[in-house]
Amino acid sequence: MAATPRLPDFAWGVATSAFQIEGATVEDGRGPSVWDTYTGTPGKIRDGHTAATACDHYHRYSEDIALMRDLGIDVYRFSIGWPRVRPGGTGPANGAGLDFYERLVDGLLDAGITPMATLYHWDLPQPLEDAGGWLDRDTPHRLAEYAAICAERLGDRVRHWITLNEPFEHMALGYALGQHAPGHTLLLDALPVAHHQLLGHGLATSALRAAGAPHVMLTNSYTPAVPFTGNENDLTAAEVYDVLHRRLFTDPVLLGRYPDLSALGLESLPFVKDGDLEAIAQPLDGLGVNYYNPTRVAAAPSESPLPFEIVEFDHVKTTDFDWPVIPSGLTQTLVELTEDYGTALPPLWVTENGCSYSVEPAADGSIPDQDRIDYLAAHVKAVDNAIAQGADVRGYLVWSLLDNFEWAEGYHQCFGLVHVDSETQDRTPKASFDWYREHIVQSRRP
Ligand code: FCB
Repeated sequence: MAATPRLPDFAWGVATSAFQIEGATVEDGRGPSVWDTYTGTPGKIRDGHTAATACDHYHRYSEDIALMRDLGIDVYRFSIGWPRVRPGGTGPANGAGLDFYERLVDGLLDAGITPMATLYHWDLPQPLEDAGGWLDRDTPHRLAEYAAICAERLGDRVRHWITLNEPFEHMALGYALGQHAPGHTLLLDALPVAHHQLLGHGLATSALRAAGAPHVMLTNSYTPAVPFTGNENDLTAAEVYDVLHRRLFTDPVLLGRYPDLSALGLESLPFVKDGDLEAIAQPLDGLGVNYYNPTRVAAAPSESPLPFEIVEFDHVKTTDFDWPVIPSGLTQTLVELTEDYGTALPPLWVTENGCSYSVEPAADGSIPDQDRIDYLAAHVKAVDNAIAQGADVRGYLVWSLLDNFEWAEGYHQCFGLVHVDSETQDRTPKASFDWYREHIVQSRRP
């Protein structure tokens, strides 16, 4: 086994998540997750796609590591599947599941790539959902136990850990709006899910530290809230959105307190118990920033159950997912975090950034995804601009290595630097793969 490589001052990488690429959902003792249940429910996923095979990464991980070695990245962010490692959510660990991540990590180290493991990328074991999921105060403790299991087996080789991926999206899409697993539609009653995930982050961080983990982060999604107009009601709505999306998931972690949530109709937070904020506000080695686009926010129409409305940007280029392409929003995100959190802010890592464009192979086999190259080039420049304005950014990771299972969209959104043929599972690097490899080489030239 090779030693963990030292990361350069600025690291380049790619990111994936377990459920989106692994497949093998019923192999080697893996149990069901909320996403297996959700994808098995008619009408939830576009065209009824499932992740039963996904990119078959569970069997093809060596091929994928070879691609990453060829790409020349420093760091690979993947997630560990909780239902693979501890299928019941409680009870015994599954040795065969841990063996898989051990093989993956050893392969990465042999290829000179630093593993960065996310513990939780939305694939809650179904038995924990049956017991209340993230609405229940026990789930954070289960996450901490699972963190300890992972660190015990992999902690001598994995030095970079991320506790949670995007707790805002998981709460909003999974528990408030019913667009993701587990599919609840609780609107603002989903807020305990924010607190319990944050508590889970804090307890898992302590568990990782107890096992000697030297580098621990939380990954949030960030999006500048852009007021629809300069009118006061729109300005207020944008501030409320910023509190819900950004401050709610950042203030407790970095400042040890919740922001004022009265604009959301919450004067008190009965689910916050004594000692919780101390448990949440653990010192971190970095903050993961996932950035795709800003969000345009208007005052809510009357009768709306939410105190804001999301509206589209006018005259802006969009990706195949209809997400607006606004690279300056990444600069703004990184600079505002730096200004707003000051000395409380650890170094920043762009742990996801990328775009959905479907480009089929041309007759000569090449995949000329120029739109992705333009997107990535502009966003890498946006990171440079943020650094020039004082942001301490240590890495940039493209979402994603492979075209993969994009949640409720199934295989319709293609974020990969590498095309995956869903019939044959053949991998074909796209033009953006070559562009990124060359960009990494150039950035290292003195
Ligand atoms: C992020 C998710 C990731 C992927 C990208 C497109 O919100 O973390 O799994 O789906 O969006």
